[in-house]
Amino acid sequence: MPTIILKDITETQKFGCLLGKTLPPDSTILLSGELGAGKTTLIQGIAKGLNIKEAVVSPTFTLINEYLDGRLPLYHLDLYRLSPNQTTALHPEMYWEGIEVAPGITAIEWRQRLSYEPPNYLDLKLSFVANSTSTRKITWQTIGKKLDFDFENNFARDDRA
Ligand SMILES: Nc1ncnc2c1ncn2[C@@H]1O[C@H](COP(=O)(O)OP(=O)(O)OP(=O)(O)O)[C@@H](O)[C@H]1O
Ligand SMILES: [Mg+2]
Repeated sequence: MPTIILKDITETQKFGCLLGKTLPPDSTILLSGELGAGKTTLIQGIAKGLNIKEAVVSPTFTLINEYLDGRLPLYHLDLYRLSPNQTTALHPEMYWEGIEVAPGITAIEWRQRLSYEPPNYLDLKLSFVANSTSTRKITWQTIGKKLDFDFENNFARDDRA
């Protein structure tokens, strides 16, 4: 799996920003990683890349936040507090199928709580790096429909984010 070291919070946001600039509508991102690994931080970068002006805050209590003022809608789900049965009742497929909502980017924290998964998604894993409070490691793979984007090269190249 491709891997990048994110040496500080700005690099994590930059990685997200590249996604926000380039992902097509109907993209789903399932994020995993422990508490504080940087999932919400990365999604804040996605919002920036989508040109969303509203501040992205963790939807831990609201479960779902919708941001509709950018290039594409961003649907941010945080399932931490839920059991798989409860996530079923939320109908998360409504977002990734884009049937009752405008097709956009669906980013889901705590994917372990899902009772079923989308057919196509970007699997992002954030993890801590030993002996550093500010470094994270990110690995990713696409499941289902191939994403035609070379993150590694784009990450190295793009310094404007
Ligand atoms: N390289 C980094 N990338 C992202 N966050 C970092 C990094 N270095 C330090 N941090 C800090 O780690 C914390 C990450 O918090 P964040 O809310 O993004 O995590 P999370 O994975 O969403 O956690 P939770 O599971 O509680 O939702 C922030 O306080 C941030 O400042
Ligand atoms: Mg979070």
